[in-house]
Amino acid sequence: AKPEPLKIMISGAPASGKGTQCELITKKYDLVHVAAGDLLRAEIASGSENGKRAKEYMEKGQLVPNEIVVVMVKERLLQPDAQENGWLLDGYPRSLLQATAFMEFDFQPDLFILLEVPEELLVERVVGRRLDPVTGRIYHLRYSPPESEEIAARLTQRFDDTEEKVKLRLRTHHQNVEAVLSIYKDVTLKVDGSVSKEEVFAQIDSALTKLLDRKAISGSLA
Ligand code: AP5
Repeated sequence: AKPEPLKIMISGAPASGKGTQCELITKKYDLVHVAAGDLLRAEIASGSENGKRAKEYMEKGQLVPNEIVVVMVKERLLQPDAQENGWLLDGYPRSLLQATAFMEFDFQPDLFILLEVPEELLVERVVGRRLDPVTGRIYHLRYSPPESEEIAARLTQRFDDTEEKVKLRLRTHHQNVEAVLSIYKDVTLKVDGSVSKEEVFAQIDSALTKLLDRKAISGSLA
């Protein structure tokens, strides 16, 4: 039988490198990347009522209410591409309630990756982050500079990427992370996220390769 597609969750403090690792993981493993923050920013850009409400919370570095987030993420994961290729869920769940809601829908990850980065690095990563609106790629003025003048000229900054706002986002993260971890402790992989993005990816890559091997064996026994 064909092995079940991978279901991966990735979590970590603001600017710990979730989006950066997701680019590398999807390139190699062809999973569908679903980022709660990106879904919310698309909702804001659409001008919807939910988007307007979400922005009020995001500007304060607080969690957007569950009645907006839970259904939005659930519906994206139920799309055929994510069901067939497997998914890589970034930035969800961020609270005990969000995790228990997903258990009720039977969304159980094979692996829960937690990126660990000391706080003093996070502020610098946030303030130097830039995004390419054309390709969606994530850059950093110092650690991952744009490849050309043309790209550099079009880079944008997120509205919540200031030192003041990242401190609020960090506080929200600390209030919730232990509770979420307690749900996934059996499948958690803690990764040192303070090293270069290639070294961070090497840790994740090795765990995913092992996981796929295990799935292939249990698939062939089924
Ligand atoms: P979200 O968009 O998910 O933001 P976040 O969790 O704060 O994480 P970031 O996107 O800021 O960082 P990242 O970990 O992806 O880091 P990146 O790879 O870009 O959420 C935003 C808001 O939406 C929340 O505050 C909340 O209000 C709301 N929200 C989202 N999900 C929600 C949910 N489930 N429920 C309720 N509300 C929700 O890297 C950062 C920078 O560092 C980049 O410049 C990058 O180039 C650089 N970098 C990355 N890795 C390295 C490395 N190894 N070495 C050096 N530099 C690196």
